[in-house]
Amino acid sequence: MSIKNSTALRTHLCGDMRSANIGEVVTLCGWVGRRREHGEHLAFLDLRDFSGIVQCVVDNSVDVRSEWVIRVTGKVQPRPEGTVNSNIPTGEVELAECKIEVLNSAEPPPFPIDQRGDDVDENVRLKYRYLDMRRERMQKNIRLRAAINSAIRKSMESQGFTEVETPLLMPSTPEGAREFLVPSRNEPGSFYALPQSPQLWKQLLMVAGMDRYYQIAKCLRDEDLRADRQYEFMQLDAEMSFVNKDDVIAMISTAVIAAAKAATGSEPPPIERMTWHDAMNFYGIDKPDLRFAMKLVELTSVFAATDFKAFATAESIKAICVAQAQYPEQAASGRNKLDALTDRAKKLGAKGLVWLKVGEAGALDSPVAKFLSATEQVEIVKQTGAVAGDLVLIVADSWSITCSVLGQLRNDLGRPPVHQGPYRYVWVVDFPMFVGINPTTKLPQPGHHPFCHPHPEDIDRLESDPLSVRALAYDLVLNGWELGSGSIRIHEPELQRRVFRQLGISDEDADHRFGFFLQPFKYGAPPHGGFAFGIDRLTAILAGEDNIREVIAFPKTQSGSDPMTNAPTNVESAQLTELGIRLLPPPIK
Ligand code: AMO
Ligand code: AMP
Repeated sequence: MSIKNSTALRTHLCGDMRSANIGEVVTLCGWVGRRREHGEHLAFLDLRDFSGIVQCVVDNSVDVRSEWVIRVTGKVQPRPEGTVNSNIPTGEVELAECKIEVLNSAEPPPFPIDQRGDDVDENVRLKYRYLDMRRERMQKNIRLRAAINSAIRKSMESQGFTEVETPLLMPSTPEGAREFLVPSRNEPGSFYALPQSPQLWKQLLMVAGMDRYYQIAKCLRDEDLRADRQYEFMQLDAEMSFVNKDDVIAMISTAVIAAAKAATGSEPPPIERMTWHDAMNFYGIDKPDLRFAMKLVELTSVFAATDFKAFATAESIKAICVAQAQYPEQAASGRNKLDALTDRAKKLGAKGLVWLKVGEAGALDSPVAKFLSATEQVEIVKQTGAVAGDLVLIVADSWSITCSVLGQLRNDLGRPPVHQGPYRYVWVVDFPMFVGINPTTKLPQPGHHPFCHPHPEDIDRLESDPLSVRALAYDLVLNGWELGSGSIRIHEPELQRRVFRQLGISDEDADHRFGFFLQPFKYGAPPHGGFAFGIDRLTAILAGEDNIREVIAFPKTQSGSDPMTNAPTNVESAQLTELGIRLLPPPIK
């Protein structure tokens, strides 16, 4: 479909000017970009609209300044030989004999618009977001986001999903994150919660017989903000009936691949799968970054009869090999850096860290080498595949600590910036139902929200050995970021109660808190499952950005505020009174 770009005020877009237009008289509208004086009488102006820039040759008496809004009528002509700019699509032409009409003047912008903006303070960028967004980078990112959303919508619709909008004002639900609350005026003292996700609604839509639901949904969570987290974010949220996990994975993969293709022009290969156990065992993390190797190597049996005290009783001993060939700087770390690595390992929960520098013929340089037998030394080199110049790091502890500490060190030492290619998607499947026992409450801690269906083979052990129970839960990971997660849900009311009981939620409690959710399941809930992935995260990676803020039109700062509107702000006391709210003095910081 071709779009009509001419309007009452313009005939063309700036970025569309090509050699084919030479000789035409065109009228363009936009903002004044860079200006360069040329000789005694002439100046070059860059005229910018969303489509790009075009050079205008003007009389240097023309008084227009940076970011003024102008309308230019001129004749497209070839640039003189030697002045063609092959870096921009309009670089072969320029507008001459220009007649300029000022549509609006502008104050000088607080930062240059014709640059990426990396060196401008975050607060300043967000205070003037409307100017920040005029940059080419932001224009591309926000439009890429729209293209991704559009591809997702098309893909979901072609797979038979129906878009349903769900409420923003809802009761508090047990999904795990801290909620934003909205006070009720009609029932002072009562609060709505804003949705952490449409989880509750989409499951009810399955009870309602909608069969396949999707929504590009706004979700809100009161979490500490990071590169991959904002208070408000968007999910592709989906739920479907009469499916197993392979059905869900296939349909979501189709949508993600369509989005990636729309963004990059090329289709990623079919997405591989890995069990949660393998992800932990080989990468030490449930969101493995497969763009680089440095996999965790199993050494437990090597030290079965060791005399080295630190390794003697450990459940699990693993290593990573920092190869000199790929990581010359890290492999050659000096004493200070190695001490810092040991401190980092301890902060992550390890009792210590053994480092060994591999020399010629497998000789090991390490403060603990003297405690290791010759066979152990040979085996370390053999199992890790280390060669001269490499650095080997070993942790001995429980399986989960060994994996998580080495997984984190692996990421610290080898992980490229998240956006850097190649894109490596992976489905992580068979998550555990519970991730550990809370030391204070002695209750199992849920791995996901409490509506995930336990693996049918493991349901018998729900009470006797909860930590061994797998969930029918799966995550989608891209370049080490969790893109999304989902599960087959519990549709049997009695099983849901058993899971709640494991989490310390009694039947009465469950009825009181989530009766509205449990009740409908008594009326013929179909087996169902679903998924949600973060559109901000996918867009950021595909846009080549490391922070989701760069693909959100109006994000919050790291500390959760908006320097442009000053939100959050105080409100009039009358407004509070109406809501039945009296403020406590601010907490002392
Ligand atoms: P989950 O809580 O894993 O699952 O969220 C799904 C995806 O949403 C994105 N996401 C975020 N993105 C930006 N900022 C945040 N603060 C933020 N929090 C989450 C992530 C994440 O993987 N209802 C379930 C899904 C289901 O079971 O169907 C859910 O919300 O990309
Ligand atoms: P120690 O016996 O505690 O003096 O530790 C001797 C060396 O082994 C030190 O370099 C420790 O960092 C390291 N170390 C101690 N415990 C462990 C462990 N559980 N895993 C890996 N290294 C350890």
